[in-house]
Amino acid sequence: MELIFATSNKGKLREASEILGEGYRLLCPADLGITEEIPETGDTLEANSLQKARYVFEKCGRDCFADDTGLEVDALGGAPGVHSARYATDGHDFEANIDKLLAELGKHPGEPRTARFRCVVTLIHKGGTHTFEGKVEGRIATERRGNEGFGYDSVFIPDELDGSTFGEVHEGKNLISHRGRSLRALARWLKENG
Ligand code: IMP
Repeated sequence: MELIFATSNKGKLREASEILGEGYRLLCPADLGITEEIPETGDTLEANSLQKARYVFEKCGRDCFADDTGLEVDALGGAPGVHSARYATDGHDFEANIDKLLAELGKHPGEPRTARFRCVVTLIHKGGTHTFEGKVEGRIATERRGNEGFGYDSVFIPDELDGSTFGEVHEGKNLISHRGRSLRALARWLKENG
């Protein structure tokens, strides 16, 4: 099945291809000539995920899905949350975002460093809109470890691993990750309803 994933993030695209497997051929907006940045101006992950999927659907009229992901850190009152991509700067600067996250957490010594990734996927299928959510609980490391993955992976230690960050996991992130969980729910839904 051919599906459009409304993202220009190469890390997300690679993971989605691995998670959905051989039955799916994923296209990204650039493959359809949509090269501008897709707006995400909502106040919630749900709103942004819907906004990105709708934007691409309105441009090309084809079934598509989008995800919006937030890293929610308890000691920071749930920040950066929906603002995870632009936490430190206006651009998608992963390194600056991590520097800011570690600096902000440094202002809360002694507090738990518990956090979670939450991912909301919106699928537009035959004109209908369907939402799937996945999350993974964990904690924030005190410094970066590992070069795998992207974004905040080098400072996120999922509870279900042995203390490694996602950045240290060569294979297996998708089995327990927020995106793995939400996209497997999407695939199950498509199998039953597609
Ligand atoms: P968005 O869903 O593209 O808005 O992502 C929000 C921010 O979280 C961006 O800075 C992403 O790089 C980061 N992010 C999204 N998914 C992941 C992930 O699986 N691991 C680490 N960082 C992520």
